[in-house]
Amino acid sequence: MKALEGLHWAGKIRHIGVSNFAVRDLKEARSYLSRTDIASNQVQYNMLQRNVETEVLPFCRREGIAILAWSPLGKGILSGKYHNGKRPKDRVRTDEDLFKPANIRATAPLIRELRRIGRAHRKTPAQVALTWLRRHRHVSPIPGVKRPGQAEENAGAAGWFLGSGEVRRIDAILRRLRLDTF
Ligand SMILES: NC(=O)c1ccc[n+]([C@@H]2O[C@H](COP(=O)([O-])OP(=O)(O)OC[C@H]3O[C@@H](n4cnc5c(N)ncnc54)[C@H](OP(=O)(O)O)[C@@H]3O)[C@@H](O)[C@H]2O)c1
Repeated sequence: MKALEGLHWAGKIRHIGVSNFAVRDLKEARSYLSRTDIASNQVQYNMLQRNVETEVLPFCRREGIAILAWSPLGKGILSGKYHNGKRPKDRVRTDEDLFKPANIRATAPLIRELRRIGRAHRKTPAQVALTWLRRHRHVSPIPGVKRPGQAEENAGAAGWFLGSGEVRRIDAILRRLRLDTF
């Protein structure tokens, strides 16, 4: 942290960002900084993986630390394209709990709702899932992509917001959702 602070003051880096830091890690890291602060914390955050909401999100909001949400599409499951029998082929996702057939079935009502909400805004389920994260003003999703078309689609999650009724409808479904092994 002291080295990063030195680089910041030398003008070699613009900001200091960290990743997967719990609140205690942020506090410890900040205790070594006296002339600058941590700008962002990159953490796993999507509709189906919300652990950061308990402590990290409120702490970062209070302290002015931006959240960069990794896996914002749940590695692609929230796009809905794996709900029609198609399976991801890579090892990372075949081993991933989210892609278990039981979890694909359990998330089908959520995908239907994302489609419904998306239709009203002329947006895709992926765009709705990304925009949902932006209901917290200090959160920016950083989706991974395989093709330029996905990058273009995901960029369409910027510049608009979900209505409060839509957020409530999604939250009601998420509250009922039971995933295997989480
Ligand atoms: N700091 C950390 O510890 C950490 C850990 C993991 C990842 N990350 C970072 O987080 C970022 C993204 O995370 P992630 O790749 O795990 O998950 P993600 O963004 O939730 O999912 C990305 C995958 O979803 C699919 N996808 C993306 N946009 C789509 C769209 N519009 N429609 C349909 N499918 C779409 C693509 O795979 P398919 O087309 O093959 O389905 C893509 O590879 C990356 O930049 C990565 O470096 C950070």
